[in-house]
Amino acid sequence: MKVLVIGSGGREHAIVDALSRSARVEKIYCAPGNAGIARQAECVAIRETDVERLRDFAAERRIGLTVVGPEAALAVGIVDAFRAAGLRIFGPTKAAARIESSKEFAKELMSRHGVPTAAYRTFDDYGQARAYVEQQGVPIVLKYDGLAAGKGVVVARTMDEADAALRDMLLDDRFGAGRVVIEECLTGPEFSFMCFVSGENVWPMVSAQDHKRAFDGDRGPNTGGMGAYSPVPFITLDDERYALERIMRPVAAALVSEGCPFTGVLYGGLMKTPQGIKVIEFNARFGDPETEVVLPRLASDIADVFCAVADGGEVALQWHDFATLGIVLASKGYPGDYAKGVEIKGLDAVDDTVYHMGTRSDEGRVLTNGGRVLFVLGRGATLGEAHAAALRNVARIDCDNLFHRTDIGWQALDETKK
Ligand code: AMP
Ligand code: GLY
Repeated sequence: MKVLVIGSGGREHAIVDALSRSARVEKIYCAPGNAGIARQAECVAIRETDVERLRDFAAERRIGLTVVGPEAALAVGIVDAFRAAGLRIFGPTKAAARIESSKEFAKELMSRHGVPTAAYRTFDDYGQARAYVEQQGVPIVLKYDGLAAGKGVVVARTMDEADAALRDMLLDDRFGAGRVVIEECLTGPEFSFMCFVSGENVWPMVSAQDHKRAFDGDRGPNTGGMGAYSPVPFITLDDERYALERIMRPVAAALVSEGCPFTGVLYGGLMKTPQGIKVIEFNARFGDPETEVVLPRLASDIADVFCAVADGGEVALQWHDFATLGIVLASKGYPGDYAKGVEIKGLDAVDDTVYHMGTRSDEGRVLTNGGRVLFVLGRGATLGEAHAAALRNVARIDCDNLFHRTDIGWQALDETKK
């Protein structure tokens, strides 16, 4: 079977890497891909949202399976277009992907179906929103309703912070005209629970945890994610069962009953609060960087899994016991402005996997080409060993314009020391 993967980041590199271990896959294309992906797949220069060209490419090359990485492609309806052309594709339709693309849709669905999440209200008027925040008090969470590349959420600790965010979102139209979801501020450790979903059927993956803040100690601005690990030791089997039975299965069933059945990966961004596990957000796709620590642990043939989910068949998942922990190397300045085109050396000295997140090749050299640049994976019998392995390999990579966190996994590593 020939396979096409859509996207250009570390998540897509991990998907390509997993597909390259499949017995069924004879050829992998990736559009548009990056310098690391190019070592394992043929990169095709088509943008991830250019649905017509991607569909035509898949038809001409007789692609047996297309796997969508990024939300942007889902939100423009790539799955609908491929299905209409009779092409097999792994991912949700535009209507089902609203679970991610519209926070209001997600919150209303959860409230209609009794899925535990923070209390909320939605506003499009600044004055009313401001009055509500004054009545509720801080801390409080403000979310712009729409895709804002992870930058549309503000956890306001003071009234001034809350007011500045409301002005940004409702008066200045910084993100385009929209609405704001105002939520109760929950507390507790967060974790990512990704499930393969095909209609009402839900198959959970192993748990993972992302690190959104830029710097050690969970300080600094929010980013797309600076590192991840799996499994998450403070998530017990009972926690996973609760998340599956009370959150993921009911949401999959709700999407079916409301006329937009979900196919693909449903990502639960969950928080273990003192009142039980609650939903922070859903994504309609694999998480990035969670995928880079979860898929290396998958022992099953991933092409079988993708095809079964897309075709509505049965899925059986098997997992390796080892732990994974990965560290993101990001361009200095990220998530603000940063330089591109800086040479990266030392990649051949690394003795485990490096997923490329934002790179390009230039006459045999690998250059930085994004905010998040590389994802360096460590494996071990324990998370501590995986952490040491990842740090050892990070030290072998030579590039003046990258920084990384040294404390990925701290919540888990502290726990195992107890
Ligand atoms: P989101 O884009 O919805 O995942 O939000 C980004 C981050 O904001 C989350 O990972 C949480 O750390 C934080 N956050 C979002 N909603 C809440 C909430 N209701 N209570 C506390 N923290 C939140
Ligand atoms: N790691 C969070 C996300 O993929 O949105």
